[in-house]
Amino acid sequence: MHLRTDALRRLTRWLPVLAVLAAACSPEHYPQTALRPISDFARIGDDVQTTTFYWALGVFVLVEGALLYAIFRFRGKPNDAEPAQVHGNTTIEIIWTVIPALILAFIAVPTVRGIFETAAVPPEADALKVEVVGHQWWWEFRYPDLGITTANEVHIPVGQTVSFRMGTADVVHSFWPPRFAGKRDVFPNRETRLWFKAEEAGEYPGQCAEFCGIQHGRMAFRVRAQSAEDFQGWVAHMQTLGAKPAAAAPGDTVRTASAGAAVPAAPAQAAQGTKPGAAGKDTSAAAPAAAQDPAYAAGEKLFLAKGCVGCHSLNAVNAPKGMIGPNLANVGARSYIGAGSFKNTDETLARWIQNPQAMKQGVLMPNLGVKPEEAKALVAYLRAHQ
Ligand code: CUA
Repeated sequence: MHLRTDALRRLTRWLPVLAVLAAACSPEHYPQTALRPISDFARIGDDVQTTTFYWALGVFVLVEGALLYAIFRFRGKPNDAEPAQVHGNTTIEIIWTVIPALILAFIAVPTVRGIFETAAVPPEADALKVEVVGHQWWWEFRYPDLGITTANEVHIPVGQTVSFRMGTADVVHSFWPPRFAGKRDVFPNRETRLWFKAEEAGEYPGQCAEFCGIQHGRMAFRVRAQSAEDFQGWVAHMQTLGAKPAAAAPGDTVRTASAGAAVPAAPAQAAQGTKPGAAGKDTSAAAPAAAQDPAYAAGEKLFLAKGCVGCHSLNAVNAPKGMIGPNLANVGARSYIGAGSFKNTDETLARWIQNPQAMKQGVLMPNLGVKPEEAKALVAYLRAHQ
């Protein structure tokens, strides 16, 4: 008897620890969780998993309960006679074959239904269209109907279905925003689709979920779910980031891509210029002030001189396709750099510019021999790109 109370006492001593461990699994501590769905798509998967879990829990309790009961109720004592020998019981065997078969059927129906629901692509008429391009090792997001491009942080409106068309510029990746949807591989020369309707505003992590090279683990992204109004505001603002920054000299060298996909400046500017209310909302609020900053001006020169411009576009509007590096039109406003890898502070940005290889070994951005002072200027320049 005292053995059992002993075990009980030991267990209660561990309860607070277990409680703390359970609390540590909360989305606040592990935000990359699929167990707290906040979209219609994620709920389909979560329902299947919850249903399966409760069936499994029931089976576990019944089987372990029966086992424990049998162990204690029929345990042998030293002088017991030999128990009766039996070869089995056909009725019981039929029962424990039929019941699991029925349970599997109960699980299979919602599972198959979920597979079809998530594979079906909803009509795009009312959806926001987003193109996703995987790169080693970052994510490109294009909004074809809005004419804007961004990288590593995809903004979406709450309450509107987002329809993703996805591909890759190089190897196979997998797009996975765990709180919104399951993993979806992206392939070269083949389009995959994904959709979901976000239910809660906030910033959520996403991750590449298919091994794609040495920095696969640092191919993350952020989902910025916003109220419809905030999203419209963001779009309107991004649509002003089509021209070179206010301080740049005429000639617009900035928008020319190394890939040869030079985009004519005039149409882009004209297109966004017609948008009422969009024009004044530029970085121009910050840029002229920033332009007075000698560091900004020096950074701008360096951005050209060091060849950053060969791989990175600073235009959100009609950004050239096929850029090697992420679009930097609003890099100053992003929470992370290095594809969701490092907090976007002046310090990390400066370190990155000076030695990206030290932070993300194998990244396609080479060390350009940028000196600390130069990095400071480049940070000032990029920070103004919000
Ligand atoms: Cu991209 Cu793993």
